[in-house]
Amino acid sequence: MSLVTMKEILDTAKEKNYAVGAFDTMDTVTTEAILNAAEEKHTPVILMVVPPSVSGKNDVFMNYLTERCRKSSVPVALHLDHAPTFEDCMRGISCGCTSVMFDGSSLPFEENAAITKRVIEAAHACGITVEAEIGHVAGHEGNMLDGNVADPSCYTTVEEAVKFYEKTNVDCLAVAIGTVHGVYKGTPNIDYKRLDEIKAQLPVPIVLHGGSGLTDDDYKKLVEHGINKINFFTAMSLAGAEAVKKFVKETAKFQGTDIITVLEKAEKEVVRHHIEVFGTLPVSC
Ligand code: 13P
Repeated sequence: MSLVTMKEILDTAKEKNYAVGAFDTMDTVTTEAILNAAEEKHTPVILMVVPPSVSGKNDVFMNYLTERCRKSSVPVALHLDHAPTFEDCMRGISCGCTSVMFDGSSLPFEENAAITKRVIEAAHACGITVEAEIGHVAGHEGNMLDGNVADPSCYTTVEEAVKFYEKTNVDCLAVAIGTVHGVYKGTPNIDYKRLDEIKAQLPVPIVLHGGSGLTDDDYKKLVEHGINKINFFTAMSLAGAEAVKKFVKETAKFQGTDIITVLEKAEKEVVRHHIEVFGTLPVSC
């Protein structure tokens, strides 16, 4: 199949009522874990990179990613996650991303909407999908291990979501409804009523950030209530780290490549499981 836009993948997901996993990668091992899992399941997948990967200092990695996605046997969107500026979004496009997220969720509403609009004008001229966020999902992506708590005062309101969509015509919208990035402090409490109200008013796919740390029942319920993209990183990365720790503890003799094999296998298993739980349909369906 190939490198496609995220709009292509998410429009089908919305039409057929399932979610697609969007997994962050910063290295080739995790990339292969994600893509091999999707290829085995014959499902579309969203491969996400972070702003440092498109800074101009990681061109070799980005060239590998675009080439690998192009050669994939399933549709893959290469998406820039959490770009904090217009310029970062443009760098993502020039590095081969087929989709970018402008994250203005910490900015005042009007500024977030105005920059999102500029990003959309430029990105759409190149055939690239744009995601934005309204409300704010707590937890700093670079500090995922300390534990985070959702702050209801930052949840997305229906009024804001509608106004934001009307102003920007964004392709898909990330909302804050009780998840956090990274490890949870306490038990997550998702505001499904809020999600239903937002879903009823917006014609575009809704995105969930902070996908790690929920139960399989939570994911299924989120999909039933209309989530079409689930961003996922921490649990995959921690599962890989745990598997390596266990392997090192239990194995007397090994070489470096054995560790890579263990890491990739553990991450791939997490991705495979979540593709199933998110209900992502195979490409032929
Ligand atoms: P987690 O690391 O909590 O899975 O969140 C990932 C994410 O939302 C990336 O945008």
